[in-house]
Amino acid sequence: MEYKLISVDYYERVIDHLRGNFFADEPLNRAAGLCQQGGGNRELEHHSLATLQDQLSIMAVDERKDSVNYGQIAGVILNGVLRSGDTEQALDKLQFSCDSNYKKIFELLYRHSLQVDLFARYNVQRIFDVRILSVDSRYRGQGIAKELVRRAEQVARESGYHLLKADATGIFSQKILRSQGFEAFSEQLYAKYRDDEGRIILPVEAPHIKLQLLTKELKYENDH
Ligand code: ACO
Repeated sequence: MEYKLISVDYYERVIDHLRGNFFADEPLNRAAGLCQQGGGNRELEHHSLATLQDQLSIMAVDERKDSVNYGQIAGVILNGVLRSGDTEQALDKLQFSCDSNYKKIFELLYRHSLQVDLFARYNVQRIFDVRILSVDSRYRGQGIAKELVRRAEQVARESGYHLLKADATGIFSQKILRSQGFEAFSEQLYAKYRDDEGRIILPVEAPHIKLQLLTKELKYENDH
């Protein structure tokens, strides 16, 4: 497997990969019924492209010469820069969204994030935000997601970030991030996320039971 930074000429192929995998089978997307396997979603594609433009994202490409899937994108980790005020702004903008399913998902993520001020808590100006972790179903269970997280941390370090953050929506992504030194900072049980009438907003399927916000601080030699 070859791991590389995602350059502009790969953006369309990355979106295609996400349509076939993450858009349909990430736990919150699935609970909201956001899209069918292979189908697109305007807002999620816009969110993904905006993240790609920060040029911190990595893909795993199948470069085995003897593989029938030679050249296929096996997995991606899309990382973006998060600055103070970005989440408030994104939440305001979300109110104009016409996609009620997308809105349900991102309202949960943004409101949860806004319960804590990571910038003040860790005394940082910018955060390396791990937004999308996705492995093609044909390549799962081979350690690709773990390696993508490990490489994302390298990129963060090379770019001088002091804090990485991720909103992990399922039990496996939570486990993968913890195995790479991330720590759970806060969490929200899906069963307790309800509307005014007491109905569960996102009926996420087992074994996924909660959203977890995880962080990892990076230390440098000249840090005190
Ligand atoms: N069942 C059981 N264990 C699993 C599963 C599974 N479905 N998926 C991963 N694991 C465990 C592995 O056993 C392994 O544990 P180990 O190190 O103790 O052996 C560990 O998690 C690492 O697994 P990887 O092989 O690195 O994970 P993989 O490459 O299969 O990708 C991922 C996992 C990204 C969750 C993939 O299943 C996927 O794309 N799912 C749909 C999208 C999604 O949910 N993404 C995460 C959302 S959160 C976010 O994006 C920030």
